Amino acid sequence: MSYVKKNLVIFGTRPEAIKMAPLVKEFQKHKDFETKVCVTAQHREMLDQVLNFFGISPDYDLNLMKPNQNLYSLTADIITELKPVLEDFKPDYVYVHGDTTTTMAASIAGFYAGAKVCHVEAGLRTHDKRSPFPEEINRQVTGRIADYHFVPTQQSKENLRIENIKEDHILITGNTVIDALLYSSGKVDKMENGEVQKLEVLLKGYQKMILVTGHRRENHGQGFINICEALKTIALQHPDVQIIYPVHLNPHVQRPVREILSGISNIQLIEPLAYPAFVWLMNRAYLIITDSGGVQEEAPSLGKPVLVMRDATERPEAVSVGTVILVGTQKDKIIAETHELLTNNNKYHKMSSLHNPYGDGKASERIVNFIRSL
Ligand code: UD1
Ligand code: UDP
Repeated sequence: MSYVKKNLVIFGTRPEAIKMAPLVKEFQKHKDFETKVCVTAQHREMLDQVLNFFGISPDYDLNLMKPNQNLYSLTADIITELKPVLEDFKPDYVYVHGDTTTTMAASIAGFYAGAKVCHVEAGLRTHDKRSPFPEEINRQVTGRIADYHFVPTQQSKENLRIENIKEDHILITGNTVIDALLYSSGKVDKMENGEVQKLEVLLKGYQKMILVTGHRRENHGQGFINICEALKTIALQHPDVQIIYPVHLNPHVQRPVREILSGISNIQLIEPLAYPAFVWLMNRAYLIITDSGGVQEEAPSLGKPVLVMRDATERPEAVSVGTVILVGTQKDKIIAETHELLTNNNKYHKMSSLHNPYGDGKASERIVNFIRSL
């Protein structure tokens, strides 16, 4: 009788869920694996939106999110609450994704339990431990602990090689975000989606739409005030442009955004969107302004220019292919670059060619084949 390998896939936030869902679905196709899902629920509503869309029911739900939570207790709670799960299921392999507190804490817990730790979306680096904060360190710590590293690009493999990770423990897979994007693009057109119909109404009468998202911890405080003041100026300078901003539920984001941007007729502050509706909106956008990691990866595949409100990015590939410009959080720079893209057609068209530096949609398949081959 052949041995069934036991997988525990652990995630907790919206982006991890989007990027791990295709892997969960791929493992579930194969009978030589027993695959269970554990969510820390570091996010609650924004996680549940993704679980609903992909039809994933977690086997374990730690339900840890607290309003305005902090890094200290969240980290401690995740490690503590994973202990009984790991002791109950006894996985051979624990899968973590990316760079969140869930990622870092779950990799430590998986290591304590004696499982092989598999890091999906490994090897991204800014080499600046305060940017993104605390994600750069979360990813580096996870990289130290992990046994197997699934990297999206050659550049991320190189980053790990420099850190003396064994080459045969690294696999270039592409990013599972492209697997998710392809899965959702196929669905959204066919959907009777109430959310999409509401968005259609917001777009009516405007020539162009700018889609905005933002949440990074290092931008909390003055950074967000600058961002919001820049958006306000852009809206007033360009009344023919609609700005749509699905506002992240973090109270440190909600507060400045709603205080500074409420009541402006061409700025729509809306709730976080379910993934397929957000993909639909990205497709309809003229330009995206964001500090998100995932959106930076999706945009090149959709041919959408992105202004990234960060000083450094661990995703240099999209900057190299020309889709992304880093603008930081300086008000004047955000206003100037946006104005340029709204008015300079040549520059806009150069930035909006289609590229796929992050993969071909087969990342999950490659990961499954690799684990099977061990
Ligand atoms: C977290 C991750 C960040 C990731 C981001 C994706 C860490 C340290 N941060 O940041 O790496 O890029 O998620 O969005 O791991 N909240 C809700 N409902 C939700 C989600 C959040 O109310 O569904 C509110 C809660 O008050 C919560 C707060 O947002 O306490 C902060 O959530 P947290 O996960 O700690 O930080 P994020 O800024 O979401
Ligand atoms: N996203 C979504 N709904 C929204 C905003 C974003 O589904 O209202 C998706 C987006 O397509 C991307 C992911 O969420 O796949 C990015 O998440 P976020 O920006 O919160 O985190 P990051 O990628 O910066 O870690």
